[in-house]
Amino acid sequence: MTHEEAAKRIAHLTQEINHHNHLYYQESRTEISDFEFDKLLEELIRLENQFPDLLFADSPSQRVGGAITKEFQTVAHEYRMLSLGNTYTLEELQAFDERVIKGLGHTDFEYFCEMKFDGVAISLVYEKGNLVRAVTRGDGTKGDDVTANVKTIRNIPLTVKGENIPDKFEVRGEIFLPRREFEKINTEREKNGEALLANPRNAASGTIKMQDSGVVAKRRLNCYFYQLLGENIGISKHDEAIHLIEKWGFNVSPTYRKVSKLEEVLDYIESWREKRFTLPLDTDGVVLKINDYDQREELGFTAKIPRWAIAYKYQAESAETELLSITYQVGRTGAITPVANLSPVHLAGTTVKRASLHNANEIERLDIHEGDFVFVEKGGEIIPKITAVNPEKRKPLAQPISYIQTCPECGTTLIRKEGEAKHYCPNAASCPPQVLGRIEHFVSKRAMDIDSLGTERIRALIDQGFIRNYADIYDLEEKQSDLLGLEMSQDQYEKESGGLLYITVQKALFALTESISSKQIQDFLDEKAELPLLETLKAFQEQIRIWKKKVPANVGMVDRLIHQLKDHPELPKMEDFVPVALVLDLFLGRKVEWSQLLESSQKHGTVHRILLDLNLELSPELTERIKKLKANTFQEGVISNMMEGIKASKAQPFEKVLFALGIRNIGENTAQLLARHFGSLEKLREASSEQLLEINGVGETLVHSLQEFFLQPENLEIIQRLKDQGLKFEIEQREDAVLGSALAGKRILASGKLKNFKRDEIVDFVQAHGGQYLSSVSKNLDFIIEGEDMGPSKKEKAQKLGVPLISEEEFLRMVNS
Ligand code: IVH
Repeated sequence: MTHEEAAKRIAHLTQEINHHNHLYYQESRTEISDFEFDKLLEELIRLENQFPDLLFADSPSQRVGGAITKEFQTVAHEYRMLSLGNTYTLEELQAFDERVIKGLGHTDFEYFCEMKFDGVAISLVYEKGNLVRAVTRGDGTKGDDVTANVKTIRNIPLTVKGENIPDKFEVRGEIFLPRREFEKINTEREKNGEALLANPRNAASGTIKMQDSGVVAKRRLNCYFYQLLGENIGISKHDEAIHLIEKWGFNVSPTYRKVSKLEEVLDYIESWREKRFTLPLDTDGVVLKINDYDQREELGFTAKIPRWAIAYKYQAESAETELLSITYQVGRTGAITPVANLSPVHLAGTTVKRASLHNANEIERLDIHEGDFVFVEKGGEIIPKITAVNPEKRKPLAQPISYIQTCPECGTTLIRKEGEAKHYCPNAASCPPQVLGRIEHFVSKRAMDIDSLGTERIRALIDQGFIRNYADIYDLEEKQSDLLGLEMSQDQYEKESGGLLYITVQKALFALTESISSKQIQDFLDEKAELPLLETLKAFQEQIRIWKKKVPANVGMVDRLIHQLKDHPELPKMEDFVPVALVLDLFLGRKVEWSQLLESSQKHGTVHRILLDLNLELSPELTERIKKLKANTFQEGVISNMMEGIKASKAQPFEKVLFALGIRNIGENTAQLLARHFGSLEKLREASSEQLLEINGVGETLVHSLQEFFLQPENLEIIQRLKDQGLKFEIEQREDAVLGSALAGKRILASGKLKNFKRDEIVDFVQAHGGQYLSSVSKNLDFIIEGEDMGPSKKEKAQKLGVPLISEEEFLRMVNS
């Protein structure tokens, strides 16, 4: 490539990359994948290396990081970084406004309103148009020099071009991790079993102080700027400054507004109170600044804060509402979580109907009684919490909440371990949600890979008694005919703490009326989300009239439902749900005793099962009406699909089966290791603790888990059944997989990019030559194959632990010799 061609290509690549950065940061969208983006960047870096005179200070290649900072230099701020006074009420804001008027002696001034961004304050110094320093706030007078890290933030200008750029200036703003990125990182961390980051603010401040700027570059930090400082910039107002830095290419949040009186400030505050949750970052209030610089000077400062600016903080909103009932959820591990069902109330932009109560201690701490009025608050969390009860509104004779003694799912007596807050259901073997967790693991992609058995279907099969453990899955084939017509989804049901079955109001209204679609009903209910149940039902009758769906039965049926609810005040209330017994009574009242309906709906989990239990002769018309209460049912297509998936799973290799068994502490890698080492389940079972512990990667905990698993007769019985069904409990010898033993007994890791292997190829290659591939740097390694661009922190760790690094060529020589 000639110099001229290179210059052209570099210009093109620079433009392309800048374009994609702009899309990403300014428009929150992408046109190319991360991989394609990296390819462009790699090409640019290659060309710049080849033609160093074509490397410009503002090249996007300058943002990939790589520099390591051992200790951040402390740097003094030229202008102090001040904090702001806080206000929480409109009265306090009024008082501020009055102080300003008094200070200036007139009302001829403007306010500039901005959001208060919740991130990390940063100050950037530019000289001759180039970014020379980025410093954190520190104690306000001096902070840490984090320039290398800040340069990796792709939309921070490295150089500022244009006319009349001051020789030296400073811009300040707030670095933040967009909520979307924060969630992405945490999802990834959760998958890898790493500790989660607490919130985007901490994540941003942790990131900006990282030593390896290469890692910083990978976290997509962003920054909003809100201040310009310097001598002779030629502006006299804050709005001019904001427009100027926008023009220079600094990222300014478009949320600002210039106003001329306090009322408009209050408008601004109100307009963002709820809308702020749609912004890409967390905000905790509004900053209000006097626009004119001379007026700012006139007002001056107190010791630490300006008299010309103030923050208004939105308070966590609180609302009062009635506690209707408490339901208890059983988690995968058997842990019980009480949930409060509330009369719907409006709170910070949403309607709240439920709040978590965490555990029995929390209920005791709040001293909640039945039917209490409670205060709910929404902090940073999505799920609101109950902060207190209103004792003045307590009903006479109201009883304190008595915590359940038995599991709402399986009836087993709950236990509470010493020192633990939560109650547990000890019935791991057959409590439905616990069984569900194990079966979901068994069928998951990386285990038996039966994707036709999704959560919904498994749950339906468990709840209706078809499967109790994973071996039962293989008996389903014989039961195909019973599956037909079974209800698939349980979403429309809820069990109240006494075990009584409830159904969504939506299903109830759908079944009770004619010629109104399910969607119409849902839209109506969404719109009325804030009304309590009885009022919703009355509004629905009105709506039937408006829709002109006045089939005589429609309004009448809803009327009967309203009466039913009023006639049975003894039944606990749950917003959005009504007792199934009440609805069925409307259809079957003449045929079945109320007590029988109650009993049956306490015993069973679906309308389908209740009807089977009652064993009634129903007219086709009535059958059709009641069918509208049910969820989708298993049909032939679904059933044959499931059967195929189940059959195909029998071919999964032993290591997958071993992983699928869900033995505690046996992850995918351990299962593979054990399967290859022992070759069969029989041998694994017979292995002594000593034999197990000899294997690298097996520790006491794992040995204990294995012993515990094999000690349970139920487990052995299940394994026998799986064997009888033809599942693989032995490894299949594949001769082609063994290429040699040059690496026998060696524990190896590769790091960085290899020339001859892709990531999983090197793993297979090592194993095929008798070696063991480990996944992280540790002293157990015999050596590390050092690829191109091996991470510096890994390298450092390897050196510290004394693990030798060898080149890829050396490695290949070792194998081939
Ligand atoms: S102006 C003297 N504007 O809040 C005024 N600060 O409590 C200097 N902050 O350290 C700050 N959003 O980290 C200003 N729109 C905004 C802001 C903002 C967030 C932070 C900033 C500052 C702290 C002061």
